[in-house]
Amino acid sequence: MKKNIKKDLIMAPMPVLIIGTYDENGVPNAMNAAWGTQCDMDKIIISLSNHKTTDNLKLKKAFTVAFATKETLVESDYFGIESGKGINKIEKAGFHAHKSEFVDAPVIEEYPVTIECEMLKLEDDEGDYRLIGKVVNVVAEESALDDKGHVDLGKLNLISYDSATHSYRVIGDIVGQAFHDGLAIKNNRKDMK
Ligand SMILES: Cc1cc2nc3c(=O)[nH]c(=O)nc-3n(C[C@H](O)[C@H](O)[C@H](O)COP(=O)(O)O)c2cc1C
Repeated sequence: MKKNIKKDLIMAPMPVLIIGTYDENGVPNAMNAAWGTQCDMDKIIISLSNHKTTDNLKLKKAFTVAFATKETLVESDYFGIESGKGINKIEKAGFHAHKSEFVDAPVIEEYPVTIECEMLKLEDDEGDYRLIGKVVNVVAEESALDDKGHVDLGKLNLISYDSATHSYRVIGDIVGQAFHDGLAIKNNRKDMK
């Protein structure tokens, strides 16, 4: 039996994205963001409140997005619970950053996969923001790639934010093939898999 639970919203899975930016003094900053996704072949969108990160975005119009992993969970959570105003969070976390080859934003070395973006828009919605970025490059550890040079999620313990329990979950096994497994019904072939 189903039950209405009013507006107890659960949107799952949510990513754990680490946004990297520079401030006016070239100090790198990192912030944790779960309200983001890909919105075109080469574009991403993230919902943001007012943060040190949004100040930096207005200034530099560029950012990076790294994917948090089980191995970087503690530092990634920390990047979501302290503001970078007046403090170098990356240094405090014991992480390291260097400037992206492609945009004016830091690549945080401890994350295996990082997207590098130019800012297309920072839409102000009464103090909240929609950040839209154009992806200009993805930089990844070789150990995170398959033999064709694509990112292999099976080699990464990527984590997802569970907003129901305010916890992090590891993204798991492949359980099917997209654009394929539904063909069993489309073609009336229950035996297909
Ligand atoms: C799991 C998690 C997810 C978060 N997601 C978002 C988000 O999507 N948008 C947002 O504005 N803040 C989000 N935050 C809060 C910011 O990360 C937090 O306010 C951070 O301190 C901002 O850093 P900054 O001031 O250095 O930019 C999240 C925090 C956590 C722990």
